[in-house]
Amino acid sequence: MLQDKITQYSQEINEFTPTSAADVEQFRLRFLVSKGIVKSLFDEFKSVSPEEKRTLGKVLNDFKQLAELKFSEAQEQFAASAAKAERTADDLTLPGVGFQLGSRHPLSLVRKEIVEIFKKLGFIVAEGPEIEDDWHNFSALNFPPEHPARDMQDTFFVEKKDGNDIALRTHTSSVQVRLMEMGKPPFRAIMPGRVYRNEAISARAHCFFHQVEGLYVDEGVSFADLKQTLYHFVQELYGEGTKVRFRPSYFPFTEPSAEMDISCTICKGEGCQLCKYSGWVEILGCGMVDPNVLENCGIDSKKYTGFAFGMGIERITNLKYEIRDLRLFSENDVRFLSQFETEII
Ligand code: DAH
Repeated sequence: MLQDKITQYSQEINEFTPTSAADVEQFRLRFLVSKGIVKSLFDEFKSVSPEEKRTLGKVLNDFKQLAELKFSEAQEQFAASAAKAERTADDLTLPGVGFQLGSRHPLSLVRKEIVEIFKKLGFIVAEGPEIEDDWHNFSALNFPPEHPARDMQDTFFVEKKDGNDIALRTHTSSVQVRLMEMGKPPFRAIMPGRVYRNEAISARAHCFFHQVEGLYVDEGVSFADLKQTLYHFVQELYGEGTKVRFRPSYFPFTEPSAEMDISCTICKGEGCQLCKYSGWVEILGCGMVDPNVLENCGIDSKKYTGFAFGMGIERITNLKYEIRDLRLFSENDVRFLSQFETEII
């Protein structure tokens, strides 16, 4: 009977759950082609009685629609997944996979800033070795033979060689000597680098840190040039209105020598924990290059004068970012490092 066949095939269609595009094609061949089931049922319909035709006509048409709908749904399902498979393989129009950018180390940021300020004043950047001999680190810089800085307590020695020990440099002033030995005045350079001292590690001291040395040697360089240069530097780095003051000091390689303070960047001179309620914080040592140092480097101290200065990058950075513990700089904790400027490639 036609009705029974329609019921049976309808059930088959409703239960049809294709798992591949090939299943869908099988379905089409079975039901929808010109020799398929739908067509054969329509052929059969021609020979049923007129009363039956009235009821079966609609049933048969519904059946045909069911078969077609099922087919188009199944076709769509597999067409979409086929297209997706193709796209993920090598679709060059898809957006790229993002990757995380690193950030600059705060010490690199500040070093860069210092270098930029002095570059605009005509200072070149010079570098020297971290493993240094006694001459460049001490003797040429006018350190007396018994000076405590040469002591084991301060200096990491690499090799003891009577009279010219090899050590990790304790300051970047050694680069001044290398620079002056290599050429003729005028010299106008800043020299950033890492230095080492035999200190117990704590929040306030570390066995290695970073300095920037500055040197300007020419005819007629005066202490006024030194003051004006450093004053300009401070205004650029910490903002207009930052005050400076110079206090007399002593370094073997400068005469006269001074230490320079700036008005506290945190409390603006009001007094706080950082400046120990004085309103001032020390940021660098400086002075006029001692004539002995010039002569040690083969420079005529009657003709030339110069000034020099040296600052710790960690100290400058602490004042800028209010970092209270030196150890943070070398612990590589991403939570700390990611707070600084992101590297733009
Ligand atoms: N070398 C000194 C230090 O490590 C810093 C310094 C002071 C450098 C005075 C200079 C200077 O060039 O003139 O503490």
